[in-house]
Amino acid sequence: MKAATGLEDVVVAESEICYIDGTKGILAYRGYPIEELADNATFEEVVYLLWHGKLPNKTELEKFSKGLAQQRNLPKPVLDLVLSAPREAHPMDVLRTAVSALAFYDPEAEDSSLGANLRKAGRLVAQTPTIIAAFNRARNDLPVVEPLKEKSLAENFLYMLAGQEMMSVLSRVLDVCLVLHADHDLNASTFAGRVAVSTLADLYSGVTAAIGTLKGPLHGGANTRVMQMLLEIGELEKVDGYIHSLLERKGKVMGIGHRVYKTMDPRAKILKQYSKWMSEHGCGPLWYNMLTRIEGIMQKEKGLDPNVDFYSASVYYCMGIPLDLYTTIFAMSRMAGWTAHILEQFADNRLIRPITEYKGPLNKRFVPIAKR
Ligand code: COA
Repeated sequence: MKAATGLEDVVVAESEICYIDGTKGILAYRGYPIEELADNATFEEVVYLLWHGKLPNKTELEKFSKGLAQQRNLPKPVLDLVLSAPREAHPMDVLRTAVSALAFYDPEAEDSSLGANLRKAGRLVAQTPTIIAAFNRARNDLPVVEPLKEKSLAENFLYMLAGQEMMSVLSRVLDVCLVLHADHDLNASTFAGRVAVSTLADLYSGVTAAIGTLKGPLHGGANTRVMQMLLEIGELEKVDGYIHSLLERKGKVMGIGHRVYKTMDPRAKILKQYSKWMSEHGCGPLWYNMLTRIEGIMQKEKGLDPNVDFYSASVYYCMGIPLDLYTTIFAMSRMAGWTAHILEQFADNRLIRPITEYKGPLNKRFVPIAKR
């Protein structure tokens, strides 16, 4: 038996949530192509779709969105925990710890019935932006902004970050980013979440495992690294030298390549348009031009295309979002997908427990410590 390193192409579950054709560059949530959702749906609509398997009607959406908006406040001890985190802490670590701590104050934490899990998922989607914004305000010595009890999740998040309402066009751009990041089949963090709850651990344990897994630069951590790279390069004329030198050293260009897509990630195509739009509407052409230049080099040199983290980095930068919050925005959105998959795992659970191909020695005799 040959080990499937990285579990590449291994099918470990049946799912009705997310479809990907990596060769054709197709992504769909519950059968709806990502392009249609990005053009037409709000993030709240997509969350409903992922959890309930159908688009909500007007009344259902209003009730659902209102329900989420009402649950944005954090329990006081969790807010205090967030505010007491060291200002140099990584926001993903703060998020992971705070989400885990939410379980202490949730009377339904240990109840894994469908109803309780849906209610907890709602609270988590609603409260994640509050955690991120509160930490960012506190580390900048700014007063924490109370979440609004209305408005979309994207609008409210930008409001809590800035302390004032932002242009509605920016909220819509963020909303599209959230739609694009909401689910992606059995990516590493979603898999981690499903593995955790397959032991019948609770939903908070599942999403905490998922947040920790998302942090890595080969997964959600790549978006921050993309922007750091652009800032380090600094000028369009320096792109070629920088990328070629990185490739010669066998380094990886962040935001490029994908385990499943063998063509351009459909989310990156959409984000590329938004990156261009932002460059033409106040942000200036530099970042977009650098990115398209890098895209061209990587396509030519390695036959690799951008993934979701490539152009999203410049979109967030142009919105004035601090670099180290990019991955938390990914988490804020993916919370919807993680919880959808956790619900699906609970609905038809079997312990996930693969095996390794053992390559070590056998039949060794124990040597007493004095003789080693
Ligand atoms: N830059 C340079 N080379 C890359 C690359 C990148 N971003 N991504 C893949 N490659 C190369 C590898 O060096 C390797 O080349 P080799 O066969 O000559 O050694 C080959 O492509 C296969 O890469 P590998 O890392 O084995 O593919 P994977 O399927 O395990 O990894 C990623 C997929 C996403 C982890 C990988 O493409 C990557 O590290 N990308 C950068 C991080 C990133 O953007 N992550 C976000 C993903 S949404």
